Amino acid sequence: MRNEKRNRRTRTGRRDFWRSFPLGLVDLSDLPLKAPWVGVYLVGAVWIWGKRKDALGLLESAPLVSPVMDALLRNIFPAYLLLGALALVVLMLYPMGRKAAEDDLQRVGLVNHAGEAPRLLRKRRDMEHPNVTIWEFDNRGIPLKEWEDKQGRIEAALDLTIAKVKYGKGKRRVLLYAVPARGGLPERIDWKDKYLPRDDFVLALGESLLGPVTVDLDKIPHILLGGSTGSGKSLLLKLLLMQALQKGAEVYVADFKGGVDFPRAWRERCRMCFTESDLLQTLDQLVAIQKERSALFSNTGCDKLSTYNKAAARPLPRLIFACDEVAEVLDRTGRSKEGREMVSQIENRLATLARLGRAFGIHLILATQRPDTNVIPGQIRSNMDFRVCGRADNILSGIILGNAAADEQIPKDARGRFITGDGTVFQGYLFDQDGL
Ligand SMILES: Nc1ncnc2c1ncn2[C@@H]1O[C@H](COP(=O)(O)OP(=O)(O)OP(=O)(O)O)[C@@H](O)[C@H]1O
Ligand SMILES: [Mg+2]
Repeated sequence: MRNEKRNRRTRTGRRDFWRSFPLGLVDLSDLPLKAPWVGVYLVGAVWIWGKRKDALGLLESAPLVSPVMDALLRNIFPAYLLLGALALVVLMLYPMGRKAAEDDLQRVGLVNHAGEAPRLLRKRRDMEHPNVTIWEFDNRGIPLKEWEDKQGRIEAALDLTIAKVKYGKGKRRVLLYAVPARGGLPERIDWKDKYLPRDDFVLALGESLLGPVTVDLDKIPHILLGGSTGSGKSLLLKLLLMQALQKGAEVYVADFKGGVDFPRAWRERCRMCFTESDLLQTLDQLVAIQKERSALFSNTGCDKLSTYNKAAARPLPRLIFACDEVAEVLDRTGRSKEGREMVSQIENRLATLARLGRAFGIHLILATQRPDTNVIPGQIRSNMDFRVCGRADNILSGIILGNAAADEQIPKDARGRFITGDGTVFQGYLFDQDGL
């Protein structure tokens, strides 16, 4: 049994060794670290050339017993050139830090059923992001989900900050996009007007290690934001609204906090709802616009707003409805019968807009901090395709993202740090929220 295991390991080891060579041939990212060895090799060659006569003289005065050693010393210069060149080739083609990486991953329990850790095949620089290194592993049957679940531990073990984990070609390779642990995201990135994406209707959220994080409302129409109190979700919400206004959208905001979050400049440029009946009226209006646009589009044979606007003499604006604490609005607990009826109607309109608004340029951006599963109904949640979560416990993270990634990957003291549904961590742009 033990023999069988040992044999299997030897076979795997041999296969991995030969597999890594073709990769090494096309991979020169380690070269700056390995290049000094070429220098050492050349200096050695010069030194041996100078000493070869001394070696011959030594052999004449005291002959060696071993004929192999004798032959080697007599031909010391060609022997050095040949063996040294062989060693250099192996060094050049073999990824550095393979054994250490394997041991580190073994230690954090990233192993398959046979107890084997993934094997590092190569490291290379990401051409698009020069500060990012791509670690390519033979995953040895360990599924991507397990890498994602153990991301925090892998980062600690390899002393890295991971920007993204994904399968390479096929599912036998896993790629880690990473920067050194000290080179993570900054704690603050100030907004600059030049960050406003040019494409209609793309909004910027912040920056990940792999560059700007954006959302294209033409493709992904509704956004669900989550995060515990102080995580920065109101600011992120307003960052999106500020850009939407700059791009000519009409913005509707439900705010039951008495307007503290939306000072005067906002109230002048957005349609604000401060009460529930006001909110219901606004949502009714939006549903009516959705119906009008639906009739208009079917008459003109357009399938969505961007197509309609390309052909129309008078383009229609996008309409954005935002609600910061949506769980508060939809919570029925402790309400009177009329109150519950009002919530049902609000919920119903929101569900209609979530389902049908996408084609007609009507978008919802909803934020919540509350970790109660049932407050946001499934029919609204399932239509919110772009999910973003800031610092959160695993329940809130589960509600927003469907996994515990925000709990595991966003530091507990982070502000303005978020993770998207596809696992991209970013630092939200910080902007002067009072000045629009
Ligand atoms: N992108 C950011 N970069 C740096 N700091 C930020 C960022 N966003 C928010 N902050 C800081 O975090 C504080 C809280 O932000 P914000 O009010 O948006 O949080 P919140 O999640 O809405 O909190 P609450 O649930 O209490 O309303 C801000 O006053 C600001 O100092
Ligand atoms: Mg807030």
